Parts: sequence; structure tokens; C-alpha cells
Amino acid sequence: MKPLIQPFFDPATSTVSYVVHSGAGSDCAIIDPVLDFDPKSGRTSTTNADQVIAFVREQKLNVTWLLETHAHADHLSGAPYLQKHLGGQIGIGAGIKDVQKAFAHVLNRKDRLDGMEFGRLFEAGETFTIGPLQARALHVPGHTPADMAYQIGDAVFVGDTLFMPDVGTARCDFPGGSASVLYRSVRRLLELPPATRLFMCHDYPPAGRGPQWETTVAEQRAANIHIRDGISEEEFVAMRTTRDATLSMPTLILPAIQVNISAGKLPEAEDNGVRYLRIPLDAI
Ligand SMILES: [Fe+2]
Repeated sequence: MKPLIQPFFDPATSTVSYVVHSGAGSDCAIIDPVLDFDPKSGRTSTTNADQVIAFVREQKLNVTWLLETHAHADHLSGAPYLQKHLGGQIGIGAGIKDVQKAFAHVLNRKDRLDGMEFGRLFEAGETFTIGPLQARALHVPGHTPADMAYQIGDAVFVGDTLFMPDVGTARCDFPGGSASVLYRSVRRLLELPPATRLFMCHDYPPAGRGPQWETTVAEQRAANIHIRDGISEEEFVAMRTTRDATLSMPTLILPAIQVNISAGKLPEAEDNGVRYLRIPLDAI
């Protein structure tokens, strides 16, 4: 079964969101939707999500799922906004409960986060359907302990595991991240049939090429600069750990995480009608 896949690339955060469907009028899933956020002004906007809404309406699709591959640290989730306008159930890996615990402590959150903010928590290997499309949630920890990839027909939405072959792999230095765990997750993905289509969650194109997001298992096994066939776990971990030590935190990590562990729900407005995000000092 070959799903139809419509990508939406967000240049501000290099995120690729997807609408996965099986033709006009069918059920669909939206994967990793983005809410625009300008950290300089503290303003949210919906240019990106509105493009997704326009496509869904034009194709007369029925949104059954809003799928998050993980609690993103680089953008705020657009899932609640899309859910309000299009419906659908928000799903994420069950390991989100551990990510919630880790960050609720850092953020000193008094509200109880127990995963129930999300409509559906997927266990490793759990299956579900999108109209006639068969889908499976694959647990691919390493970047975070809760990362899922979604296998839908012949396509896999890999989340933050692999990037395009010339970019490599996702960082593993966030709380609960592990380079050796990521290595094993990626190698499991690369055991899928060689023609399996792989769709990236991000692209950070090197100078000289525009953004791309689609590749195959065969291409990744032949050419991924970090984890192609022949690179051992030991070599990968040494490379990943050295590289992660040079990376600064993503610009939006603090705004993004506190919103995304609440399934993208923004904080309630205070008595002056303004919503606030919290910035913990010297805590991460
Ligand atoms: Fe991420």
C-alpha cells in the first residue's frame, strides 16, 4: 500500500510536516505539525499550519490522526490548532511520560502531567489505521527516550533519527538521549526492505543544495555520512558524542519543550489575559 504524502517544509525551523492520505476524500494523518513562534517578540502565528489546513480542505480529507514523532525541542507543535480546525486525535509514543517527568521537574510544573494530555499513547510496535492504510508505531529511542517513527504502507516517517544521507543523524545529548541507543534504533530501521521510502523530520542542507526530505533505506545504507553500512556502534558513538559536545542548545528548546510536553497546549492566560512561558535559569 503506497500512501500519498504531501510535505510542508518550514524554513524557520527546518522541520518537515506531512499529510499522509490515500486520495481525495480519504482519511489522513498529519505528522509533526508546526506552530510558528518568533522568540524575539514572543508571538505565535499559524502561517505554516494554515497551509496544511488549506491542503486538507482542498483535498476534502478527514483528519483522523495528528502524530508527533517526539516532544520536539526546535518548534512548538501545531497539533492543537489543527485539531481545533480539522479534528483528529493527537498521538505520541508512550515514553512521553518519562520526558514529561524529566522536564516537569526542571520547569517546576505544579499541574500533573501523566500522558493524558495526548489522545493516544503508542506502545512499541502498536498498529493503527488511517482509512485503508495500515500504520505501525516503531519505538526508535536515542535522540530522546520516547521517539517514535511511523511506518505507513511502504513509507516510514523517521522523526529525529536519520537525516538525509549527506547530513547524517540526530543529536543524542538531550536528557535521556543516548548515541548507542540511537545507533541500534537506526540499524533496526535500516533492516527494512531497501526500497522503503524514508521521510525526514528535518533537513539542514549543506551549502549548495536546497531542502530535501525523502530518501530510501538503500540510499541511507549506502551513503549516510554517520551511519552507513560498515560503521560500527563504537565508531558512531565516538563521532556522535564528539559532535554533540560542539552543538549549542536549539533556540526554542525551552519554549518548545514546555508546550510540547502538554501536547502543544499553550499555557492558560493569567488574570491580565496574557499567556506566559517560563525560562528556568541554570537548569539545563
Ligand atoms: Fe527533535
